[in-house]
Amino acid sequence: MKKLIRYLKPYTLFAILAPLFMLIEVICDLYQPTLLAHIVDNGILKNNFQLILHTGLVMLAVAFIGVIGGVSCTVFSSLASQYFGRDLRNELFKKVQQFSFSNIDKFHTSSLITRLTNDINQLQTLVMMSLRIMVRAPLLFVGGIIMAIYLNKNLSIIFLFSIPILASIFLFIMKKSFPLFSEVQKRIDYVNNVVRENLVGIRVVRAFRREDYEKERFKYANTMLMNAVIKAIMLMIIAMPLFMLVMNLSILVVLWFGGLLVNQGNMKVGEVMAYINYMGQIMFSLMMIGNILMFVSRASVSAERVLEVLEEKIDIQNKENADKTPIRGGKVKFEHVYFSYFNKEESVLKDINFEVNSGEIIGIIGTTGSGKSTLVNLIPRLYDVTSGRILIDGRDIRDIDLKILRDAISMVPQDTILFSGTIKENICWGKEDATYEEIIESAKIAQAHEFIIRLPQGYDTVIGERGVTLSGGQKQRIAIARALIKKPKILILDDATSALDFATEQKIIHGLRGIIKNCTTFIVAQRVSTMMNADKIIVLDKGKIVGFGSHAELLKNNDFYREIYKSQIDEEVMKYA
Ligand SMILES: Nc1ncnc2c1ncn2[C@@H]1O[C@H](COP(=O)(O)OP(=O)(O)O)[C@@H](O)[C@H]1O
Ligand SMILES: [Mg+2]
Repeated sequence: MKKLIRYLKPYTLFAILAPLFMLIEVICDLYQPTLLAHIVDNGILKNNFQLILHTGLVMLAVAFIGVIGGVSCTVFSSLASQYFGRDLRNELFKKVQQFSFSNIDKFHTSSLITRLTNDINQLQTLVMMSLRIMVRAPLLFVGGIIMAIYLNKNLSIIFLFSIPILASIFLFIMKKSFPLFSEVQKRIDYVNNVVRENLVGIRVVRAFRREDYEKERFKYANTMLMNAVIKAIMLMIIAMPLFMLVMNLSILVVLWFGGLLVNQGNMKVGEVMAYINYMGQIMFSLMMIGNILMFVSRASVSAERVLEVLEEKIDIQNKENADKTPIRGGKVKFEHVYFSYFNKEESVLKDINFEVNSGEIIGIIGTTGSGKSTLVNLIPRLYDVTSGRILIDGRDIRDIDLKILRDAISMVPQDTILFSGTIKENICWGKEDATYEEIIESAKIAQAHEFIIRLPQGYDTVIGERGVTLSGGQKQRIAIARALIKKPKILILDDATSALDFATEQKIIHGLRGIIKNCTTFIVAQRVSTMMNADKIIVLDKGKIVGFGSHAELLKNNDFYREIYKSQIDEEVMKYA
């Protein structure tokens, strides 16, 4: 928690002003009962209208000053906490942006979202509450006791009994409920995870008519969350009446003895009233302290979760003196590359060795799960090899400046992701300062130009949440145009033509050859037809290379490839081959 305080530092002024104004409010609150006693004992009971009027006006003025103090405190504590939250959120987001894929795999996307939203909100509320209540409650507590003792020492003996009882009730609740809150936060993660998966996959859910299953899954996650929260606050719920009982009993005792003292002439009626007022303030401040301690325990769980992200070691980073020489060629070489995901022992890629020349088209084929995506993800260092090395133009990619490396590589990932905005904006994503000609050129190679100009707004058509919905194949073609506009040295198409028909796919591949010179292109696909014209084909099976060569070569002497080919051959291929 302490480590996060520094985010409050730029707003120290607000953080100081808030408690100062709170001090004013507390002083006013503490002064009121004494004024009340004065008005009752010396004004009402003695029929002194002058005094009633006078003291009444003073009370009004004190109340007014108190309100100003209170409002100002709220303003400054809100400012401090909102700025604090904004900065922390920014910082966290910045950090997540630097995350490598394995960092993200480790946290899970939904948990990162919860941490960025819910957890930071908790911390923000804590700052706000602290600046108000952490000052108000102790001041009111101590001030109340002093004022009460000042009014009547003997009566105050009651505090010796009631305060320890109340305090121990709170200590007990806190000790028991602390551990339960981290469970609550984990279950919020889980609920978010279910929601996210469901929304992302809503089409699949509908198509497979799995709504009932999903509903059940959500119901389960939601109920689990509720149970955890109830368990965490149950103690409080039970303890509350107990707390009120002790408090009311104390007031009863004061009324009883106070009454006796009034009868004996040792105390005035107004003083008893004021005394009970102070007691109320003392008990109330205890309640506030209890509440805030409870909240602190909850927020400290959040603080840990936020810090966990902030302090996570980013495993893919630039070397100290990374090589900033631009990539000119595009020769790619894998040397004894092994790779395993962080949470799995088994290698997904085993002893991968191959070399391709710049400008070549390389097909990668293999069954699902054979490691095709993993292999191409290693090239732009989305993940780092576990052992072995990857060379581009003879340089280990880990020695090359990350920005230089990634600028030279364009990738169309397996799942097409476009952002909300116009088609033009989406294509320009690959190169912000692209000219209109460049946009059209890329779209033409990607075979997207024709369908785009047929849309009512052409390149300015808005897509995404508030715009036109494109078909899977249309999205893929825009994603390809986005990758091409960068004029990369290395282009990676990971199953990026899966939604296109054979003819369109072939046109794209031919276009690539013609226009982008010296661009090494990796085409991952499940269909043999996609890569028949590739210079080299890598055949992957269970993370191992089981075939390497041109289509003709592989067909002649690779059983594995021939099997795939035979099983896939269909009329369409025959027509174009
Ligand atoms: N982020 C990940 N974390 C853990 N395992 C993964 C991850 N991504 C893929 N895998 C596993 O690695 C293997 C290869 O996956 P992948 O490279 O996606 O295969 P392909 O693209 O050939 O279908 C699979 O067994 C898959 O379950
Ligand atoms: Mg894949």
